[in-house]
Amino acid sequence: MDISSSNSSNPSPLPLQDRVAIVTGASRGIGKAIAVHLASLGAKLVINYSSNRDQAQLVAEEINSSFPHNHSPRAITVQANVSDPSHVKSLFDEAERVFGSPVHVLVNSAGVLDPKYPSIANTSLEDFDLTFSVNTKGAFLCCKEAANRLKRDGGGRIILVSSSMVGGLKPGFGVYAASKAAVETMVKILAKELKGTGITANCIAPGPIATEMYFSGKTEEQIRKNIDECPLGRLGETKDIAPIVGFLATDASEWINGQVIRANGGYV
Ligand SMILES: NC(=O)c1ccc[n+]([C@@H]2O[C@H](COP(=O)([O-])OP(=O)(O)OC[C@H]3O[C@@H](n4cnc5c(N)ncnc54)[C@H](OP(=O)(O)O)[C@@H]3O)[C@@H](O)[C@H]2O)c1
Repeated sequence: MDISSSNSSNPSPLPLQDRVAIVTGASRGIGKAIAVHLASLGAKLVINYSSNRDQAQLVAEEINSSFPHNHSPRAITVQANVSDPSHVKSLFDEAERVFGSPVHVLVNSAGVLDPKYPSIANTSLEDFDLTFSVNTKGAFLCCKEAANRLKRDGGGRIILVSSSMVGGLKPGFGVYAASKAAVETMVKILAKELKGTGITANCIAPGPIATEMYFSGKTEEQIRKNIDECPLGRLGETKDIAPIVGFLATDASEWINGQVIRANGGYV
C-alpha cells in the first residue's frame, strides 16, 4: 500500500506525522507489527534488532517502499542489544542523527522467553540472568535513556511490552513473569517521575500471541489448551496488539499514564 498517497489526498495530518519512534525487537513478531503500524500513522522509524539483520532490513524496506516519493528514508535499522547501555544510547544517537529530531516515541518490544518453560526449581542461573538481562535490564535502560532524551512538552511516549503472564501466573513461567512484573512496577513510578515533561509511560501486556516466541518449545496440546482457555477461542495475533500501541503513541492517549493495559482476549 502507498501510505504517502493516502496522506496527500487527505489534508489532515496523520496522528504521528513525522514523529520519530524507536521500536526495539522490531525485526520479528510483535515489534515488527508495531513498527509497521506506527509508520502507517506517519512516524519515522528506528527498527532495532539483535541478530536478525536481514529480517530487520526487510521491515525497513516494507516501510520505505510505502513512501515511494520520499528521497530520505522513513525507516532505518540499528543493531543493538537492549541490555547494553552503550547500545541503547546508540539507538537514540542514530535516530537523532538520521532524522534530525528528538525521539518522540520509544516502544520496547525486545524480549526473551525460556522455551524450556522450567519450574523455578529447575531454572539455571544462566537462564535467570539472560531473562532479567534482556527483559528487565533492557526495559530499564530504554526507560532511562528515553526519560532523559524524549521530546518534552508534547508527543513524548514510552511504551513497554510486558506480559499478561504477570496476571496468569502459570507454572513454568516464574522467572519470565517476574522479569515482566518488575517492568510493570517500574513504569508506574516512571510515569510519576516524568511529571512536568508531558511524557507518558505505559505498559501493554499481551496474552498468547502467535509469534516465534510463542510457538517455541510448545506442544500441540499446550497450544490447543491456550486456545481453549481464551473466551474468543483463538490465539492472539500481532495485529491485535499493534493498533493498541499505535493509540498509546498518539496524542489522543494522553490521559492513559502509568497504566498496564492487558490485551489478551479475556484469557487473563
Ligand atoms: N508472543 C507472545 O505470546 C507474547 C506474549 C506476551 C508478551 N510478549 C512480549 O512481547 C515482546 C515481543 O515478543 P515476540 O513474541 O514478538 O518475540 P519474538 O518473535 O521472539 O521476537 C523477539 C524480538 O526481540 C529481539 N531481541 C531479542 N533479544 C534482544 C536483545 N537483547 N536486544 C534487542 N533485541 C532483542 C529479537 O531480535 P532478533 O530478530 O535480532 O533476534 C526480535 O526482534 C517480548 O517482550 C515478549 O516478552 C510476547
